[in-house]
Amino acid sequence: MCGIFGYVGKQGNAAEIVFDGLKLLEYRGYDSWGVSVKQGKKLLVDKHVGKIGNSHLNSQLSTFNSQLAIGHTRWATHGGVTVNNAHPHLDCSSTIAVMHNGIVENFEVLKTELIKKGHKFISQTDTEVIPHLVEEFLKKEGLASSVRDAFNQLKGLNAVVVAYAVSKEIIAAKTGSPLVMGVGKNELFVASDASAIVNHTKKVIFLEDNRMVILGDRLKLIRLPDGKEIKPRFQTLDWKFEDTKKGKYRHFLLKEIYEQPHVIKNIVFNYKQEAQKLAGLIKKAFGTFMLGCGTASYAALAGTYLFSRIAKKHVNFSIGSEFNYLEDYLTKQSLLIPISQSGETIDIVEPVEKAKKKGATIAAIVNVLGSTLYRQADYKILLGAGVEKAVVGTKSFIAMISVLLLTAYTLAKKEDLGKRLLLKASQDLKKVLGNIFVENLKKIAGELKNKEHIYIIGRGLSYATALEATLKIKETSYMHAEGFAGGELKHGVIALIERGTPCIVFAPNDETHDDIISNAQEVKARGGFIIGIGPRNNKVFERFLKTDDIGDATIIPQVVISQLLAYYLALAKGIKDPDKPRNLAKSVTVK
Ligand code: AGP
Repeated sequence: MCGIFGYVGKQGNAAEIVFDGLKLLEYRGYDSWGVSVKQGKKLLVDKHVGKIGNSHLNSQLSTFNSQLAIGHTRWATHGGVTVNNAHPHLDCSSTIAVMHNGIVENFEVLKTELIKKGHKFISQTDTEVIPHLVEEFLKKEGLASSVRDAFNQLKGLNAVVVAYAVSKEIIAAKTGSPLVMGVGKNELFVASDASAIVNHTKKVIFLEDNRMVILGDRLKLIRLPDGKEIKPRFQTLDWKFEDTKKGKYRHFLLKEIYEQPHVIKNIVFNYKQEAQKLAGLIKKAFGTFMLGCGTASYAALAGTYLFSRIAKKHVNFSIGSEFNYLEDYLTKQSLLIPISQSGETIDIVEPVEKAKKKGATIAAIVNVLGSTLYRQADYKILLGAGVEKAVVGTKSFIAMISVLLLTAYTLAKKEDLGKRLLLKASQDLKKVLGNIFVENLKKIAGELKNKEHIYIIGRGLSYATALEATLKIKETSYMHAEGFAGGELKHGVIALIERGTPCIVFAPNDETHDDIISNAQEVKARGGFIIGIGPRNNKVFERFLKTDDIGDATIIPQVVISQLLAYYLALAKGIKDPDKPRNLAKSVTVK
């Protein structure tokens, strides 16, 4: 779940180019970082613990004309957050530097062998075996075949980038973890995702699994494990670099929240075919399963309610990491709808691979072009939400809901009604994102910031809303929040309610309204402080955040209100950088 960036070229300051590239990848992992630059026949290294944030590259690395450099920003899996465990990792002669994303599952066996051969290790990481393995092969072979043979020994899903002091080339290789190549004028780039390259070039290759690339005077694509050279297939990105910047916003999280009205409209006006295709696949399938992790799992859960109430269609839902243990009943007639912002979440990529082996059809809903899930899928629905930089998913969730809602209405042959509701939701968001509404939200955030617990309830579709709202509050403000199906309260959880315990209640104008209001009264009767979110106020609410009544699309303003509340809770609690919550990373590529 780390970020890797590499550069070979004649622009003259490879160290700075790599350093800036790492800043754009920091949302992939931000507990330590490192850069290595080739100077003559030496590799200079600069490693630090902590976020790149406002730090600077050691001038020793950036004050000379460098043409080759590699960099890494880390999310620790093996070994604590120390300078020694930060990347790059070097061999015994400090002439081979390796940046790595993934987990070398057989590193202990390899390490034991290498120690027997006299290699010295200084870190607790799995990564450090790689430069020593390359060093071993280099005793008999050239750099490219040494990296190939070393990489072929690694078990697990890995992406590596290797620099060698006496070589003018960078070698990259991958299985599973993402890598993108960029081709500029007299310069070549390698990065964990394209958003860090787009400001340099739009000509890219999304590297398939079991591939190696040699970046030197030209780009050479190699098939693994046999080492055969193959013809690269380039793609042109249609992204604007500006899209990857904060612009006038203080944080990416706030910027991406404010982009949602546009994200919805884009789906209304441009996703007719996608919705019809997906509706057709669901109609034809014998068993449809939506799966996701974290926020994407709540979109999938919401999908089961939307397909049931709108299209009278049963569509199953599963959490990605659990689906591994549920796949036995999949057949060739099964349809899998994996949902993922990054398209790299291993708990989605793996069950999809197993389902493919069972002959199931894969229709993926994903936000990142060229991602592993995008390439795995038989049918690909790109969310079109644009680059999402904040670790906390917002516009990607609303895009997922909009695609599922439009597809459910298409399946019910009421496509235009679905579009009207989404346009109304996009309109209503203008009010929710307006200053008056936001000022009111900030006040409520101020009232809640010192609370120990927050409970959130909803029924039916709003149960999924409650779970998503809970996750936003937890991962943004670090407050303890718990979401429940309203009906579950009396079966135990209501014991947690004390005088002043805040409880957020999602009360849309649908068949769940009266029951959820009764649940709110039960909480209030035990001293709970009730915050109501929905179209209709009620005397049980101490605080009320009004949305328009938009039928099934009411989930959209309700979730956006929760996103904003989570954001302002984080600020009220003095959290400096809500874009990069502690211990999290944007895409979870390890199990
Ligand atoms: C959401 O805010 C979190 N970042 C996290 O739960 C995320 O939804 C989950 O890791 C799934 O990511 P994906 O959509 O990229 O697969």
